[in-house]
Amino acid sequence: MSSELHIPVLAREVLEWLDPRSAKLYVDGTLGLGGHASLILDQSAPAGRVLGFEWDEQAARLAADRLSGFGDRFQLVHGSYADLLVQCRELGVQQVDGILIDLGVSSLQLDSPERGFSFRVDAPLDMRMDGRRQVTAEQLVNSLKKDELADIFYNYGEERQARRIAKFIVEARLHCPVKTTRQLAEIVRRAIPTKYHPKKIHVATRVFQALRIAVNREFDNLVTLLTDAPGLLAPGARICIITFHSLEDRIVKQAFVNNQAYRVLTRKPVGPTAIEMRSNPRSRSAKLRVAEKVRVHQHPIST
Ligand SMILES: C[S@@+](CC[C@H](N)C(=O)[O-])C[C@H]1O[C@@H](n2cnc3c(N)ncnc32)[C@H](O)[C@@H]1O
Repeated sequence: MSSELHIPVLAREVLEWLDPRSAKLYVDGTLGLGGHASLILDQSAPAGRVLGFEWDEQAARLAADRLSGFGDRFQLVHGSYADLLVQCRELGVQQVDGILIDLGVSSLQLDSPERGFSFRVDAPLDMRMDGRRQVTAEQLVNSLKKDELADIFYNYGEERQARRIAKFIVEARLHCPVKTTRQLAEIVRRAIPTKYHPKKIHVATRVFQALRIAVNREFDNLVTLLTDAPGLLAPGARICIITFHSLEDRIVKQAFVNNQAYRVLTRKPVGPTAIEMRSNPRSRSAKLRVAEKVRVHQHPIST
């Protein structure tokens, strides 16, 4: 699949919930190749604006190119959405009218073998979405203690064989460091007894996903965003978050319920239609949750 073909997931649903309008300002926290951003800009013509965050330099460049036709209605921030509040304040933005976060890896990243996200091609174990970050998957795999590796595989990948895989990695790296995707995939394959090999996914899928989440601190970023977003959203403005992972979905659900600055608009997450799933298999596990910033601070009634 070509990276040009990253199809925005739940596009119709995002537009319905975000309801972009002219003269309003929206944040796309995960710009990717600008698919959702261009739809938001189209729908909010003639004067709606988008501030797009993307920490992957290659994606940021391609998206900026793609969106250049919108002129100054689009502005790029080459950075993490976890720094949303600081970055907006630096740009003089005090309030926004909506936020979209579409988590996960883009096809551009998956289709670039040298980035090390995929076990299907042999490549250095990198997995950084933001090349400016220090820690790579190779460093984690070769330096963490057995229990730390096992926790990552279990907590971020829901991998039941986490302890066994960690043990095999620690033994293997005594002989030679684990440097490539194929080396790691092979260790995982050996560690998991054949009768436990999953039927629908590759045997190393969960381990690779877990390492990617750890390298990019994906859950920490999400928690920071959910804590900070109400400080930026205008009263009544909406935040739409698309997740592809049950643990991420849980983080979003709990933050929306527990933080009194949010009012939940989707009791159940919104998923793709059968038609979308057929035309874009990546959408299969997508879940959209939406909340709005509470309109008025309600004081408890004193008796
Ligand atoms: C699934 S893609 C987004 C696709 C986009 N909605 C589109 O329609 O083209 C996710 C993107 O978010 C970026 N990303 C993930 N975490 C990020 C973060 N903390 N800050 C900024 N960008 C992030 C990734 O680099 C990737 O390009």
